Amino acid sequence: MQLSEEQLSFFEEQGFLLVPDMFTKVEVDVLLKEMREVIKEDCPRRILEKNGSVRSFFAPNTTNEVFDKAARYKSLIAAAAKLLGGQIYLHQSKINSKAAMVGDWWEWHQDYTYWKKDDGMPEPNVLTAMIFLNDVTEFNGPMLVIPKSHLAGVVDDAENVAEIEESWYKEYVDSATYLTALTSDLKYTLKQKTIAKWVTKNGMCSARGKAGTVLFFHGNIFHASSNNLSPWDRHAYLLTYNRVDNQLPATDNPRPEFIAMRNFEPAITVETIV
Ligand code: SIN
Ligand code: MN
Repeated sequence: MQLSEEQLSFFEEQGFLLVPDMFTKVEVDVLLKEMREVIKEDCPRRILEKNGSVRSFFAPNTTNEVFDKAARYKSLIAAAAKLLGGQIYLHQSKINSKAAMVGDWWEWHQDYTYWKKDDGMPEPNVLTAMIFLNDVTEFNGPMLVIPKSHLAGVVDDAENVAEIEESWYKEYVDSATYLTALTSDLKYTLKQKTIAKWVTKNGMCSARGKAGTVLFFHGNIFHASSNNLSPWDRHAYLLTYNRVDNQLPATDNPRPEFIAMRNFEPAITVETIV
C-alpha cells in the first residue's frame, strides 16, 4: 500500500492522517491475542492507571515477535518514511490499553515536547503511527487532534505540577522520575487558553476508524483523549518513528531505553506479521 499525493499533502497541511485497512482482521486478532499475554508481565515497562488497570506497556517489540514484526511492517515503514521525508528508525513503541469502563484520559499535550526536553531530540521530524486494535468510535475514547496545530511549533505552557493525593499511586509515581511523562498526570500539558485559541481557529477532529486503521500524527500536533466509559475496549499499538538524521545526542543521564530507544539503524522490514 503506497500513500497517494493527496494523503501526503493532507498530512503535511493537517498534521495527521487516517489510513484504513493497513492491517487485516487476522493480523489485528493476532496482535490482540499476544497483547493479552504481553501486558501480564509485571515489570517497569508496564504503566498502571490510578485504578490499578494497565494504561501502557512500553517496548513490546523487544520481547514479543509479533509486536516486533508489526513495528517493522513494510507498508507502515514505507508510509512513515514518506511522510517524514527520509530514512527512519524506531524511537518508541507502546501499547495503550484503554480498557472498557476503566481506561483513563490523556490530557492535551504535544509529544515532541517530551522528546525535546527529556531526550534532546533536535527537530520535530518525528511522527507516531497508532494502529487501532479495536474499532474506535466516538464512545471509547478516540484520540482528539487539532488540525494544523503541528505548525504551532513547541508551545511552552508551564510545567504541570501534579497534585496527587497520598496513596499507593503517589508512591508508584514517585518511585521513578520518568513516570510523570507516562501516567495520567502528565508533566508537560497544554493550557486551556492555548487549546481554546487553536480550536476556535481550526476546530477539533476525533480520529475514528475500524480495527486495522492506522492514525499517523505529527510529533507537534496538539492531542488528547478522554476516559473510556463505554463497554468496548480501545487498545492501540503506537509506534514512534524518528528520522535517522534527527537522532538523539549522547547524554549522561538518558531515559530508559524502553522509553527512548537509541538504536538509530533503520529497521529491516518484513512483508507480513503473521
Ligand atoms: C498519546 O498521547 O500518546 C496517546 C493518547 C491515546 O492513547 O489516546
Ligand atoms: Mn501523546
